[in-house]
Amino acid sequence: MDLDGKRIVLGMTGGIACYKVCELARRLQDEGADVQVVMTQAALKFVTATSMQALTGKPVFVDAWQADANGRVDDAMPHIALTRGADAVVVAPASADFIAKVAHGLCDDLLSTLVLARAPDVPLLLVPAMNVEMWSHPATQRNVAQVKADGATVLGPASGAQACGEVGLGRMLEAHELREDIVAFFQPKLLAGRRVLITAGPTFEPIDPVRGITNLSSGKMGFALARAAREAGAAVTLVAGPTALATPRGVQRVDVRTAREMHDAVMGYAHHADVFIAVAAVADWRVANPSKTKLKRTKGAPPALMFEANPDILADVATLKRPPYCVGFAAESDDVIANAQAKLQAKRIALIVANRAQDAFGADDSELHLVDAVGVTTLPRASKLAHARRIVAEIAARLQPR
Ligand code: CTP
Repeated sequence: MDLDGKRIVLGMTGGIACYKVCELARRLQDEGADVQVVMTQAALKFVTATSMQALTGKPVFVDAWQADANGRVDDAMPHIALTRGADAVVVAPASADFIAKVAHGLCDDLLSTLVLARAPDVPLLLVPAMNVEMWSHPATQRNVAQVKADGATVLGPASGAQACGEVGLGRMLEAHELREDIVAFFQPKLLAGRRVLITAGPTFEPIDPVRGITNLSSGKMGFALARAAREAGAAVTLVAGPTALATPRGVQRVDVRTAREMHDAVMGYAHHADVFIAVAAVADWRVANPSKTKLKRTKGAPPALMFEANPDILADVATLKRPPYCVGFAAESDDVIANAQAKLQAKRIALIVANRAQDAFGADDSELHLVDAVGVTTLPRASKLAHARRIVAEIAARLQPR
C-alpha cells in the first residue's frame, strides 16, 4: 500500500466539505496510513467527533487542554505531541480563516497551534474549501501565496457548483482525488522540472463511418506511466488512443483516434519534451480507401480493403535534431531480449521495455525487461503502477543531469 507506515494528522476546520473528509479518512487508511483527526470547534458544527472517531478508530482531538485517551495529564500536550513523528499534517477542509491564521502565525486553538509548533521537516498540506468570492479575494490570495512561500503545499481548490449555490473556484477536491494527490506527494521527485510525453492505448483506423480496425491494448500501462511520471514531479502530456480510462491527476491529456492523429499530436509536443515514452499499440497499417458512407452488405464479393503504412511515431521522434530521451515498448512472442536489442538499434532509441506478447495485453502483472546499450535489467512481476514507478526511476537515473 502506498501510505504504509505513514502517520498523518488530519485537521478539519469549519465547512460543509467536512462531509468529504469522512471518506478521505477512510481512503487514507485504505492506503495503509495511520490517521489522527484534530477538529476545530467550527468543524464540529458540520461533523461530529464521534463520526471521525468511528471512522479512524481513534479518539479525536478538539482542544489544547485535552488529556490523552487514557486521561494521562503528562501526555496532555497535544499541540506538541501530535506532530512529533508525524509524516504530514493535512488540513481538509482548510477554511479562509484557517489559511489566514497559518499565514500570520496565529494560534488560538489546537489545530492552528500544532501547525505552528510542528517541526520544519513535517510537511503541511492545505486543502482549501470556501465560497468563490472568499477564495478569489485578494486577502485570501495573499495568504495562500504566503503559506506556499513558507513551504506549505496547497491541493486544489476545484471549480464547480458550490453548496452556497454559487459557481466557481473554491470547491474542495474529492476524496479520491486527494488520495491520489497525497500518495503522489510522498513519491520521490525524480523527474522534477522535466517534461514527459507519453503515448498510450490502441489506435483506431476507420473502414467506414461506423467500422474500423483496432487492437486489444487497454492503455493501462501508458496511463500508469503518466501517473508515475507526474508523481515524480514531471509535467506530463499523455496522447491517448480510444480508451475509457480516467485521466491521472495533474496530467494533460490529448485524445486521438488514428495513428496519424497520434503522430501529429506527438510531433507538436516532442520538441519540448525531455523524455518520450511510446507505449501506444499503434496500427502499422491504415485503410487506404475508407468509405465515406456506411458499407452495405451486398451480395457478391466483400469490399476490397487496401492498406498503406502508418508513420512510425517513435522512430520519427528519435530522429529529431534534438530528440528527447526515447523509450519504446516491445511485446515479442519469442527471443524477447534479442528482438528488443534489434528494435533498440533499428529505432535508434535509448531504452526498450520488453515483455512477452502473450503477457502484454490486458495482463496486470507480467515480468518486464529494460534493455539499453549497457545491458538488461529485469523487473519481476508487479502491478502496472509498481512497474511504472520503477521504469520512471530507471529513466530518471539514465537522464543527463542539467
Ligand atoms: N510505435 C510507434 N509508432 C508506430 C509503431 C510503433 O510509435 N507506428 C512504437 C510503439 O509505441 C512501441 C514501439 O514503437 O513503443 C515498438 O512497437 P512495435 O509495434 O513492437 O514495433 P514495430 O516497429 O512495429 O515492430 P514489429 O515488427 O515487431 O511489429
